Amino acid sequence: MAMASRKQLLLPCLILLFVAAAAVAEASPRAQPQSTYIVHLAPDHPALSLSPARGGRNALLGPLLGLPRRLSAPRPRLLYTYARAATGVAARLTEAQAAHVAAQPGVLAVHRDQARQLHTTHTPEFLHLNSAAGVLPAASGSGAVSDVVVGVLDTGIYPLNRSSFKPVGDGLGPPPSSFSGGCVSAAKFNASAFCNSKLIGAKFFYKGYEEGLGHPINETLESKSPLDTEGHGTHTASTAAGSPVDGAGFYQYARGRAVGMAPTARIAAYKICWKSGCFDSDILAAFDEAVGDGVNVISLSVGSTYAADFYEDSIAIGAFGAVKKGIVVSASAGNSGPGEYTASNIAPWILTVGASTVDREFPADAVLGDGSVYGGVSLYAGDPLNSTKLPLVYAADCGSRLCLIGELDKDKVAGKIVLCERGVNARVEKGAAVGKAGGIGMILANTEESGEELIADPHLIPSTMVGQKFGDKIRHYVKTDPSPTATIVFHGTVIGKSPSAPRVASFSSRGPNSRAPEILKPDVTAPGVNILADWTGEASPTDLDIDPRRVPFNIISGTSMSCPHVSGLAALLRQAHPDWSPTVVKSALMTTAYNMDNSGEIIKDLATGTESTPFVRGAGHVDPISALNPGLVYDADTADYIGFLCALGYTPAQIAVFTRDGSVADCSKKPARSGDLNYPAFAAVFSSYKDSVTYHRVVRNVGSDASAVYEAKVESPAGVDAKVTPAKLVFDEEHRSLAYEITLAVSGNPVIVDAKYSFGSVTWSDGKHNVTSPIAVTWPESAGAASM
Ligand SMILES: *[C@@H]1O[C@H](CO)[C@@H](O)[C@H](O)[C@H]1NC(C)=O
Ligand SMILES: *[C@@H]1O[C@H](CO)[C@@H](O)[C@H](O)[C@H]1NC(C)=O
Ligand SMILES: *[C@@H]1O[C@H](CO)[C@@H](O)[C@H](O)[C@H]1NC(C)=O
Ligand SMILES: *[C@@H]1O[C@H](CO)[C@@H](O)[C@H](O)[C@H]1NC(C)=O
Ligand SMILES: *[C@@H]1O[C@H](CO)[C@@H](O)[C@H](O)[C@H]1NC(C)=O
Repeated sequence: MAMASRKQLLLPCLILLFVAAAAVAEASPRAQPQSTYIVHLAPDHPALSLSPARGGRNALLGPLLGLPRRLSAPRPRLLYTYARAATGVAARLTEAQAAHVAAQPGVLAVHRDQARQLHTTHTPEFLHLNSAAGVLPAASGSGAVSDVVVGVLDTGIYPLNRSSFKPVGDGLGPPPSSFSGGCVSAAKFNASAFCNSKLIGAKFFYKGYEEGLGHPINETLESKSPLDTEGHGTHTASTAAGSPVDGAGFYQYARGRAVGMAPTARIAAYKICWKSGCFDSDILAAFDEAVGDGVNVISLSVGSTYAADFYEDSIAIGAFGAVKKGIVVSASAGNSGPGEYTASNIAPWILTVGASTVDREFPADAVLGDGSVYGGVSLYAGDPLNSTKLPLVYAADCGSRLCLIGELDKDKVAGKIVLCERGVNARVEKGAAVGKAGGIGMILANTEESGEELIADPHLIPSTMVGQKFGDKIRHYVKTDPSPTATIVFHGTVIGKSPSAPRVASFSSRGPNSRAPEILKPDVTAPGVNILADWTGEASPTDLDIDPRRVPFNIISGTSMSCPHVSGLAALLRQAHPDWSPTVVKSALMTTAYNMDNSGEIIKDLATGTESTPFVRGAGHVDPISALNPGLVYDADTADYIGFLCALGYTPAQIAVFTRDGSVADCSKKPARSGDLNYPAFAAVFSSYKDSVTYHRVVRNVGSDASAVYEAKVESPAGVDAKVTPAKLVFDEEHRSLAYEITLAVSGNPVIVDAKYSFGSVTWSDGKHNVTSPIAVTWPESAGAASM
């Protein structure tokens, strides 16, 4: 629930609420439960002068928020005051109090706090692998990225015995003078022992979480400190900016040198996620703190499965405040694929990252008694089966098709390999269930639901995972052979044999953009499948209690893993080009992204096995070396983003949450369409088969040749005439920035387009740079889903 603006509150409802509240308050003042609300305030609001006292009991809060006596109990409590990324407070209020506050002058919006999730999938679902090394061969050698700070908002950091979070050699020198943050000590987190010139910030934000839990954090279960007891934050931070570590690996898998994308950038960790989630009030507090501390990049592998309108999305609001201060905000698109409209963190000022594979696999074959071999994947690290053929049974014949713990019949399973099916319980747990029942190994088969998507998991017993087609064949063999047998053969780490890489993961969330259909999302894709990086010493690699292992590195998957790759690359770009705005950094990564895989074909989508589209891969796969020298860039500042919000049709009250200066946003100069934002991609939504739209763009020449001449090469989407005017841009010292427009018109008559979408591209080239933007067109039949 969100009360976004005064306008949205229905008056009759309010009156009812007030009446009910008053009546109940008299009878029993304790009967009204309080919830956490984020209250956005005008910058001169007197409540902003309050700071949270112990327990938040501040007698002035209620009166300052305009609560009358009859609504004064229970007394509101103050959790946070926001002053940088947002302006406002987080407070405990009853529903009646919140409704009253929302209608007061100077109150911009009131949103109920809500929980978000980490965008990794390793516990219940996707566990995978890759090496961070190799993604950025050259840029990591420059050794110069020492003045850039990456703020990682996540589950904290585990620096004990982790070389990734120590400076290499003599260190990096003192933190940049622009950084005013630091590390806080708490039980289990000794700042003077853990922090150094590499890890220069470590803070934690728990007030919204504790209120959501309804009780204080149980410190035997999690650490009320910046210490990461989960693993995710340690993984993402080391992916973004970890120092090089030789001999890294997960047991025998993916061995070699692990190194973050920006190995000499500094890390500041902000712990916002806890055992049962990440709360908006804490996320916004961390944004606020990171902006105040002076980080240069914010990496956020967190979000929801549903994208809210930007004016009621705390991540969009906090990110806007950060971008306004020149900070790049890189965020995961989510793991809700492969359905369309699933991407989250989709505001145009956010760099939204999808996930794809790298050229590294962990094959493990299921070899059957009849000699047939079915390829699967596994990260099982214990003793192998040594080609011993064992009796093979089907789990459904042994009491539990899904291999739930405690439900397999020991008499039928003991000493055998069990064919289990995917779904419901964690994949590693299925193998554990087989092991507990006396089984020796497991073949985990996908069903129709999961198709051919393979996930290499660190199984506790010898196991492999096969796709649905092979699963069906193995099941048929078990049912028809009088004495079926099988073994599993593990092939370790295999590099360079994959039919094509990168391929976009099925789980990677997709466009179109559900909130701003004319802004293409996701923006880019990056490695997010089977990523090797640091792990906490406080939890197992599967985060399952049944798993006793502790590992320094772990291999996991998700857009949570692809996001910090891009955050680290953004840090490299910030170091190389300190004058680039966050929008220019994003533009450079998008226009230089590549769209071909290593076999020379369009990057494939693992969900379909066929070509991905810009709604799946965005502008393409990030290419850091090209991004350092993009030729032309598309810039935009916060005034442009406000104009975009006007064009989206947001009301002045809704926009006030972003402008925060107390003035009414001036929408008089708004662009004709939201798609006129100076974005490095095009997403047109046709309302009829006669439609035509024109978008305006301005490109700035940031290449070394001030008098470069660029020519446009257009690939029109099927059924569309795409025309760029002018088709040639002649730059000189006086004309570093030049405008062009692109008109997308339905071509031919009659138009026959047998698809919901068509795709194309426009590339500006001076012979030295290719500056490419994808074009996506949504046809009328499917436009309904995108309508606002
Ligand atoms: C860190 O490493 C040292 C030396 O290898 C070891 O003695 C210590 O127990 C380790 N500490 C943790 C928390 O792993
Ligand atoms: C924290 O670490 C410092 C430096 O290693 C050490 O001197 C200090 O005693 C430690 N403090 C605690 C409370 O363990
Ligand atoms: C905290 O968790 C531990 C371990 O589960 C449990 O034994 C203990 O009772 C919990 N403490 C509180 C105050 O709930
Ligand atoms: C496979 O061989 C290894 C090493 O000889 C041994 O430790 C292990 O128990 C064997 N596994 C099986 C299932 O026989
Ligand atoms: C630009 O793209 C064209 C066509 O794909 C290609 O032949 C050329 O090598 C590219 N140029 C650069 C500098 O990448």
